[in-house]
Amino acid sequence: MKVIETDCLAKIFGNKRVLDNVSMSVENGEILGLLGPSGAGKTTLIKILTGQIKSDGGKARIFDKNCNKLTDEFYSDIGVVMDNSGLYGRLNCYDNLKLFAKIFNVDKSYIDEVLERVELTDAKKTSADKLSKGMKGRLILARAILHKPKLLFLDEPTDGLDPATTERIHKLIFELKENGTTILLTTHDMYEATKLCDNVALLNEGRIIEYGEPLSICRKHNYDNSINILLSDGVEVTLKNIRENSEIIKEYFDNNRVVSIHSSEPNLETVFINLTGRSLV
Ligand SMILES: Nc1ncnc2c1ncn2[C@@H]1O[C@H](COP(=O)(O)OP(=O)(O)O)[C@@H](O)[C@H]1O
Ligand SMILES: [Mg+2]
Repeated sequence: MKVIETDCLAKIFGNKRVLDNVSMSVENGEILGLLGPSGAGKTTLIKILTGQIKSDGGKARIFDKNCNKLTDEFYSDIGVVMDNSGLYGRLNCYDNLKLFAKIFNVDKSYIDEVLERVELTDAKKTSADKLSKGMKGRLILARAILHKPKLLFLDEPTDGLDPATTERIHKLIFELKENGTTILLTTHDMYEATKLCDNVALLNEGRIIEYGEPLSICRKHNYDNSINILLSDGVEVTLKNIRENSEIIKEYFDNNRVVSIHSSEPNLETVFINLTGRSLV
């Protein structure tokens, strides 16, 4: 059974097709990334999958259930991080989580453990509206994982956060994956997508224009198929990646002239630009 599955999914706002023919699936334990610029339809897709809005065509299922008809019981299996809302500003970190622990019937003793995991133990008694942006982001994440959901939706989990906080959140995402959590995350950061995701869907204007493992996508779009070599005298050489060039490369190595050597496959941003004519940010 796929944890998430969509088939020819469509969403129309007014007369605009915001999602068009979106077909994808997510296996148990997988991290799927939706990579696309602002307005691509990423948040809309998460809203449909989490039952916040209804689709206008095609299929969307989580845990093999129609997303247009999700019942309350499903919400104990999913966690959602969407924006910086939903925290009680005047309550401290601990009490914010205590409130959710009650709703989800989670043992209170687990709150400290989750605070520790998101590195907010020292801020336990700090009220939410006094937290920095990065700390707030981590508290929202803590809330989303408090009930140990099997499936986690993270809508731009590191958008606007500093590199140190981003790094912490990435670490936590990997830990959750290790514990078997299935994750769908959205991002416009190709480094984040490449680093975290088993598969990515490049989303542009509501359509998936490329789909697969990040590095496979890059290799598939490696039209140059060349090798770039920087030599010790500062000269940069570009050679076609073909057998006939092996002697030349060997000679550079034999003479200790190679400073660096790279293959020419593009990164995900370049692939996106090649396919759409526009950049991700
Ligand atoms: N409730 C809504 N009513 C009308 N248009 C909407 C609504 N929500 C989103 N849109 C439009 O749908 C498109 C996709 O939005 P969104 O899913 O938020 O994109 P992303 O999350 O990738 O930035 C945008 O053009 C946006 O303006
Ligand atoms: Mg969005």
